[in-house]
Amino acid sequence: MNSNMPKDSGFDKTLRVLKEGYEFVMNRDKEMHTNIFETRILGEKTICLTGSELAELFYDNTRFSRSDAAPVRVQKTLFGEGGVQGLDGDEHKNRKSMFMSLMDNKAMDEIEDLTQKYWHEYFEEIDWNDTVELYEAAKVVFLKVACDWVGVSLQDEDNEARASQIADLYESPASLGIQHWKGRKSRSETEDWIKGLIEGVRNGELEADKDRALYHFAMHKDLNGELLDSQIATVELLNLIRPINAISVWVAMIGLAIHEHPNSAEKLKSANGQQLEWFIQEVRRYYPFFPFAVARVKLDFEWQGYEFKEGTLTLLDLYGTNRHPDDWVDPDEFKPERFEGWQETPFNFIPQGGGSYDFGHRCAGEFITIVMMRTTLDFLVNHLEFEVPEQNFGFEFNDIPAVPNDKVKIKPTRIK
Ligand code: HEM
Repeated sequence: MNSNMPKDSGFDKTLRVLKEGYEFVMNRDKEMHTNIFETRILGEKTICLTGSELAELFYDNTRFSRSDAAPVRVQKTLFGEGGVQGLDGDEHKNRKSMFMSLMDNKAMDEIEDLTQKYWHEYFEEIDWNDTVELYEAAKVVFLKVACDWVGVSLQDEDNEARASQIADLYESPASLGIQHWKGRKSRSETEDWIKGLIEGVRNGELEADKDRALYHFAMHKDLNGELLDSQIATVELLNLIRPINAISVWVAMIGLAIHEHPNSAEKLKSANGQQLEWFIQEVRRYYPFFPFAVARVKLDFEWQGYEFKEGTLTLLDLYGTNRHPDDWVDPDEFKPERFEGWQETPFNFIPQGGGSYDFGHRCAGEFITIVMMRTTLDFLVNHLEFEVPEQNFGFEFNDIPAVPNDKVKIKPTRIK
């Protein structure tokens, strides 16, 4: 028993998680003055952790594992089944290397060029009388970036329908009822689409660019020297396309940041690349996106007098760690300049997970995310003139992922 671990009193807290969303762990940390406590979620005893010290513990592969950690509803929508997120040890290392081998400087330059190109193209093609929802526009633009980069043709596709189908995968895991089931249906439809391509590459019916992820993933060999099951290769290719599309959530938050912090936004007009990057880093720190990372205790162990029992579900609060008073000065203030001369560790700034990219579960696409957000901010500040109509910029802390209610409407007037 974790006899001396602070306990969240009362019964199962699943409904509280749905009600309090991103703030569930933070609310209890503040109430109990602790970075660690025990609760019950989805009928299971669950340990909740926050702050860089406990993030370091959470990312110790000898103490925590990922198999059987993610809830089924998340696997059926967001992740897909059998992907890299649920692997451990050498199998994880092999699969993760398939992703990380793609993330070099050349790829980042290409992603930057594609992001610029498709934002320009999007606004060159719109009707100038239209009001554009930045969140929805980003989904379409980023689907094109993703598909070009991985080597999937969108020629026969209805881009808006495909972009919205892929968005269902990340908009549905935490929702209930119809929206959740829509997510499951969209997962099966997007998997059918990608699986056809993987199989086409394998049987020679589809000629694929050998430098692209579609070909790499179709031909990747596992630890036994075997090709991945085509269903697994499909899930993994979607593990590139889906999250690139999901960066649109943070584009909406860039729009909100510009609206909520006009002084910081004003400085962007004469900003260099470094200052643009500080702004988007602050967006990634300040606004919520991914609430928690989940794992299970691998073997019984004791840490600072607290007992961790094998198999216990453990949740690391990503949002709370990025606003933790032990790690950040004035955490509740939006201050991009805090990143000047800031000391990063693998555990103190973890909007996309912490620890190692190669040997741990830190997000494979963090560099891509930074490049696409920076390029988008540059486009909005330096290449597009727009008005901002009256609208509801509010968002809900239990809406995961949170997006401003009117999806950030803009009325473009000129492209430069
Ligand atoms: C939209 C912004 C993104 C956010 C907020 C985000 C967030 C995360 C988080 C929180 C994790 C899990 C960390 C953990 O379990 O400890 C993760 C893992 C992952 N992300 Fe991202 N991500 C984003 C973009 C991307 C992009 C653009 C890609 C690929 C192009 C990507 C690919 C992955 C993969 C493959 C994993 C699994 C890594 C593993 O289990 O080893 N993500 N991401």
